[in-house]
Amino acid sequence: MNEKISALTRRQFIASGAAALTAAAVSSTDAVFAQPKRLRMALVGTGGRGATAWGADIVANYSDVAEIVGLCDINSKRVRAAKELIKTNAPVFTDFDQMIRQTRPDSVTVATVDATHAHYIIRAMELGCDVFSEKPLCTDEAQCQAILDAQKKFGKKVTVTFNARHDLEAKKTKELLMQKAIGEVFSMDFHEYLDTSHGADYFRRWHRLKEKSGTLLVHKASHHFDLANWWIDSTPVEVTAFGELKFYGRNNSFRSTHCRVCPFKQQCKFYWDVTQNPLYMKLYVNCESEDGYLRDGCVWREDINIYDTMSVVVKYENGARLNYTAGAYLPYEGQAISINGSQGRLDYFDFGGGGFVNKELRLTRSFGKSEVITDLGERRAGEHGGEDAALQDVLLRDHNKPDPLGLRADLRAGALASLIGIAAYRSIERGGQKITLKELVKL
Ligand SMILES: NC(=O)c1ccc[n+]([C@@H]2O[C@H](COP(=O)([O-])OP(=O)(O)OC[C@H]3O[C@@H](n4cnc5c(N)ncnc54)[C@H](O)[C@@H]3O)[C@@H](O)[C@H]2O)c1
Repeated sequence: MNEKISALTRRQFIASGAAALTAAAVSSTDAVFAQPKRLRMALVGTGGRGATAWGADIVANYSDVAEIVGLCDINSKRVRAAKELIKTNAPVFTDFDQMIRQTRPDSVTVATVDATHAHYIIRAMELGCDVFSEKPLCTDEAQCQAILDAQKKFGKKVTVTFNARHDLEAKKTKELLMQKAIGEVFSMDFHEYLDTSHGADYFRRWHRLKEKSGTLLVHKASHHFDLANWWIDSTPVEVTAFGELKFYGRNNSFRSTHCRVCPFKQQCKFYWDVTQNPLYMKLYVNCESEDGYLRDGCVWREDINIYDTMSVVVKYENGARLNYTAGAYLPYEGQAISINGSQGRLDYFDFGGGGFVNKELRLTRSFGKSEVITDLGERRAGEHGGEDAALQDVLLRDHNKPDPLGLRADLRAGALASLIGIAAYRSIERGGQKITLKELVKL
């Protein structure tokens, strides 16, 4: 309930001389008025991410502070399947405007295919809503400019849901950098390793198309560029990149459309049986007839036009430099991040597979000791190593609490993270040419 209205109603009620009412009745009225207003959340994009992190999790863990009021997806079967998974009575829609008009949400969560985020972010603001956007904010520079202009015009709040900031080691890294534990940051080496399971999954479905995902440099690396921007605490200005498709796509002698019908099941190391996953059967396979979305698409399809091998150099306003690489066909999964400063170095290793694990956050002071940092705080349960729960808390439960680490990512942060990826693929398109962010958008 709106607090202003409830206070006014209470004053009017007392002034009307209704003194005959019993004390018990007044106190029960007060109890009703005292109930905090729940955030009315609408969701567009009810696929894997939407239905879980922004659907089922909200209903299961945040019903005291938030309420799902509407669900929308272009696939009417998927939105109905998601409603069941989420366990909500909220109405379902395939028309976004109709959902907003009918359900009057305070905020819209956008969890659609990446290249469609901009459309919904802008329309939600136009229709008077704040926005929680899944990463990436957008997939090209025109979308980015349009979102920035719309936010200026409509004055609504856009938050980008970068859950990777909520990793315990990521937060500790930010804290140590804020304390100047390694002095001034001069450079960062960030290596992302995607393996033959997680990495391959991006080549099975819409992420494989640049026009839908902006390549992994936007879709995936926007997490990493956001972390780098947040840690370095300066504005990226210039990007140079190289990228190739060395492994997936045309780089194989046989292919099919998708695994279920593949004649090469026996010999393909990437054969994957989606029918073994009950959630995916409900959300994808049983909804295929509507949009032809094949969750188990072939990783060797010839239309794949993103890169699986990437190198990016980013220069920041303060002179710091980020050296970023990513590969999507590696034998193990994880990250190796090193931050070099005037007084030391931070190393965060979290990778492994095939029988080995390498995970530690290490601080080495120049001319001093090297130590493993272990006071990381409590790791939450749930998806992405508890990052999702920590993010949801900060956005939905603790939104009025101080945020000393700057964990909440605003529109500018979302724009800059996407823009590095966009500048990187533009650089690759132009044979490794240097791209400045200011030639892409007016921030
Ligand atoms: N932060 C994270 O850890 C994380 C993890 C996974 C996905 N994501 C993000 O969440 C988003 C969704 O990813 P996903 O894995 O759930 O994909 P998905 O393919 O499972 O779901 C996408 C949904 O969007 C719908 N859709 C597509 N175009 C649409 C349109 N024009 N209008 C309305 N709905 C449309 C599809 O029908 C589908 O239901 C992506 O932007 C992705 O980057 C973030």
